[in-house]
Amino acid sequence: MTATAILVAAGAGERLGTGRPKALVELGGEPLLVHAARAFSAAESIDHLVVVLPGGMDPAPVSVLLDSSGWPDAELCEGGPTRQSSVSAGLSACPRDSRVIAVHDAARPLVSPRLIDRTVASLTAGWDAVAPGLVVADTLKLVDSTRQAVLRTVDRRGVWAVQTPQVFGRVTLDRVHARIAPSADAATDDLSLVERAGGRVRLIEGERSNVKITFPTDLAFAERLLAGDRS
Ligand code: CTP
Ligand code: MG
Repeated sequence: MTATAILVAAGAGERLGTGRPKALVELGGEPLLVHAARAFSAAESIDHLVVVLPGGMDPAPVSVLLDSSGWPDAELCEGGPTRQSSVSAGLSACPRDSRVIAVHDAARPLVSPRLIDRTVASLTAGWDAVAPGLVVADTLKLVDSTRQAVLRTVDRRGVWAVQTPQVFGRVTLDRVHARIAPSADAATDDLSLVERAGGRVRLIEGERSNVKITFPTDLAFAERLLAGDRS
C-alpha cells in the first residue's frame, strides 16, 4: 500500500506578518516546509510527497530545498485562495496508486516521524479518517466578538484541539472534496469535511511539540523547542 503526504504551504501567513509566505519563513535557519518535508521523509509509512505552493511562486528553488530534504521526486503544484482549495489542488497531483493520503500543514514544522507513522497506522478498518489531537487544558469561554463580553463558559470535558497530519483513504478524501464546494466558510481542516459527510472520524493522542505556527510568539516558542531538541 502506498501513502502520499500533501504538504499544504500555499497560505500567505498574514497573522505571522513577515510579509512572505509562512512556509518559507525560517525556523532554526531553515524554511518551515523543509522541517516538515524532512519528517515525512523519515516516516516509514509515506512514499510520496506533494507540496502545494502559493500561486505564482517559482517552484525551482523549492525543488532544490526538497531534494536536500529527502524528496528528489516531490510533486509541486499551485494552491488556491482557501486551505480547502489548496488541499483539493494537492489531491489532483497525488499519484493514482496512492491509497492513503496524509494532509499536513507546513505551519506544523516540528511534527515527528513517529507521530506521522502512528497516525497512518491508526487508519484501521471501520474509520474513514484519523488525526492527532490533544485534550484542551484552558478553561473555555464563549465571547461576544464585538464587546468581548463573556456569554458563557463552555464545558471543556471531551473537547480536543486537532492537529495534522490528518489521514484518509484516497477514495474518502476524493469524495468529500468533490462534494463540498470551496466557499467563504471553507473548512479549516479536512476531518470536518468527512464529519459533514457522515463519516467515522477518530482522534489519537497527538504531541504537544507539534505546534502550529500562527503568530510571532509561536515561532519564538518553536525556536526554543527546536533548540532543546538539539541540545
Ligand atoms: N494554506 C494553504 N492555502 C491557503 C491557506 C492556507 O495551503 N489558501 C495552508 C498554509 O500554508 C498552512 C495551513 O494551510 O500550512 C494552515 O493555514 P494557516 O495556519 O491559516 O496559514 P496561513 O493561511 O498562511 O496564515 P494566515 O491565515 O495567518 O494568513
Ligand atoms: Mg489561513
